[in-house]
Amino acid sequence: MVRSFLRDTDFSRDEACEVFELAARYKRLRAAGVLDVLKGQSWGLIFFKKSTRTRLSFEAGIYELGGHPMVMNAGDLQLSRGETVADTAKIMGRYLHGLVIRAFEQEVVDDFAKHSGLPVVNALTDLLHPCQSYADMFTMMEYFGSEGANPDSIKGRKFVFFGDTACNMAYSLALAGSMFGVEVVLCGPEEFRPGPELDELFADASLKPSYSFTSDPAAAAKGADILYTDVWVSMGKEEEKADRIAKMAPYQVNEKLFKLANKNAAFMHCLPAHSGEEVSEGVLRGSRSIIFDEAENRLHVQKAIISMLVKKNAG
Ligand code: CP
Repeated sequence: MVRSFLRDTDFSRDEACEVFELAARYKRLRAAGVLDVLKGQSWGLIFFKKSTRTRLSFEAGIYELGGHPMVMNAGDLQLSRGETVADTAKIMGRYLHGLVIRAFEQEVVDDFAKHSGLPVVNALTDLLHPCQSYADMFTMMEYFGSEGANPDSIKGRKFVFFGDTACNMAYSLALAGSMFGVEVVLCGPEEFRPGPELDELFADASLKPSYSFTSDPAAAAKGADILYTDVWVSMGKEEEKADRIAKMAPYQVNEKLFKLANKNAAFMHCLPAHSGEEVSEGVLRGSRSIIFDEAENRLHVQKAIISMLVKKNAG
């Protein structure tokens, strides 16, 4: 069975640690030049949704691993004229060596993995965003650890996600955080609390959850080590914009919330950010914000994820 990375838990904790060690090495040695991990390989990148960071970091990363990245907007493929995912995946399996896919439904990335026979990386679905959560764990390890990627440096840290806690980022952070013993607090309006699908993801992976939910932003921020948020209006939810902004306003990450957090607490955001909505301009641009390290780490971590898949599938 070809290994893919479709859910945060598709790597064991030990494998994820190996990914982070490799990412730290890739980051340190980036200037050494192009590697030969993907020598002779063509990887397809299919986007059903818009992207800046994911597209650029995968395209650059695959090149830096010695491979050939081929970016495709799903709207330009025959998929958009009714060709099935199964047939498209089978065809791609004849040409390519791996796929990176950003889609709406999780089933689309699952079906590409099932029918292509290729390693597939989930580059965001409505359910999960595991490449971002892995980059976030790595960024926390850098921030709280002395050097490299030491998982013990984030164990027991209080990580609070504010906003829509039934979204892909909240779910991936709950899963990845639980793999590393992070105390994940999901904080938002009751109406946007996690659904039963999050518990199903934990059950399917036989992973003990280390997350909790609260609708009280002050209680959540108290003693927090990381304050994290994401846009209130995710891709595909645009018609709910006014309602979401009104309901989530009390959960804005701002100076008032930061005063309740630990002294060395940091601000994280997967980006793009909407300053003045989910985060105040002062916090977003302030000295506690590590958003650009976080964004850069997508590159190093994704190179490591792809390298792990190549290694596991060769073995
Ligand atoms: N964080 C993230 O996935 O960014 P993009 O939507 O720009 O890829």
